[in-house]
Amino acid sequence: MKHLIDIADLSQEDAVLLLDTAEAMAATQSRRVKKLPTLRGKTVVNLFFEDSTRTRLSFEAAAKRLSADVISFSAKGSSVSKGESLKDTALTLEAMGADAVIVRHSHSGAAHRLAHAGWMDLPVLNAGDGTHQHPTQALLDAMTLRRHFTRGGEPAEEGTTLEGARVIIVGDILHSRVARSDVQLLSLLGAEVTLVAPPTLVPVGIENWPCRVTYDFDEALAEPTDAVIMLRVQRERMSSLGGGFFPSPGEYHRAYGLDIIRFDALSPSTVIMHPGPMNRGLEICAQAADSPRSVIVEQVNNGVSVRMAALYLLLASKGTIHE
Ligand code: CP
Repeated sequence: MKHLIDIADLSQEDAVLLLDTAEAMAATQSRRVKKLPTLRGKTVVNLFFEDSTRTRLSFEAAAKRLSADVISFSAKGSSVSKGESLKDTALTLEAMGADAVIVRHSHSGAAHRLAHAGWMDLPVLNAGDGTHQHPTQALLDAMTLRRHFTRGGEPAEEGTTLEGARVIIVGDILHSRVARSDVQLLSLLGAEVTLVAPPTLVPVGIENWPCRVTYDFDEALAEPTDAVIMLRVQRERMSSLGGGFFPSPGEYHRAYGLDIIRFDALSPSTVIMHPGPMNRGLEICAQAADSPRSVIVEQVNNGVSVRMAALYLLLASKGTIHE
């Protein structure tokens, strides 16, 4: 595989290899010298047409810890604001000698277009495209779950899947590339996934996703669960559609938020996850976000290891992931 665009392109073997490689990368990060020489002489471009904190910084940290040079491009302040197209931006990057492109874009399919339009011949890593895919977020979520499901948060053993794990994903499924990618990857690894959302935030065609869907958060929580993943309410994508997806923030919090009552009722072994950035008081209360059972900071930390693994497998170890 040349690119990392869509979880649907991965076999279970590929996903486990990525996660095992991420564990190997994580092990190197507790050393005194964190930097590995693996990508010395390579140049990685961070091409961000949409805002990001975690993904952009952790791809940058991952590339630098593998000794690659990193060029960071953000659409704001670039010639994109003068109307430059994705194609011309791609041609410019290749002419500058880039070896790989990490791209985030507000349009679903932008990463696929960049990889397959024939404009350039470089590996593309999708850092989130519209409401479509966020594969490295799904991988870091799977890494975090694998550790907690089998090893109480310690590094997972090689070859571990999520067979038997039960995961609830709650919130704005409609606008969530994280939900799409997580459902695909977690089910590929053997987990049983339940989605919870108000009817207005459920996408058309969800019946074809490999998961159960309910509108009732409390009904989903009545079953034993290993993890609850709370999704951000993506108000920026709602306002362009005129809003009206739920009556009020208070109503949303009562019906679909991880509020203090639901948090207090969770089993002690259930971990709390969120891809960030969080809307505290809307989809998650501060007590849940800051509790010892929250693994949200671990998710961010695992994101660096997962992105090191993806860069390593695509740039330094060609052919290790299936063709
Ligand atoms: N989870 C995630 O994609 O966060 P950022 O938007 O900050 O990158």
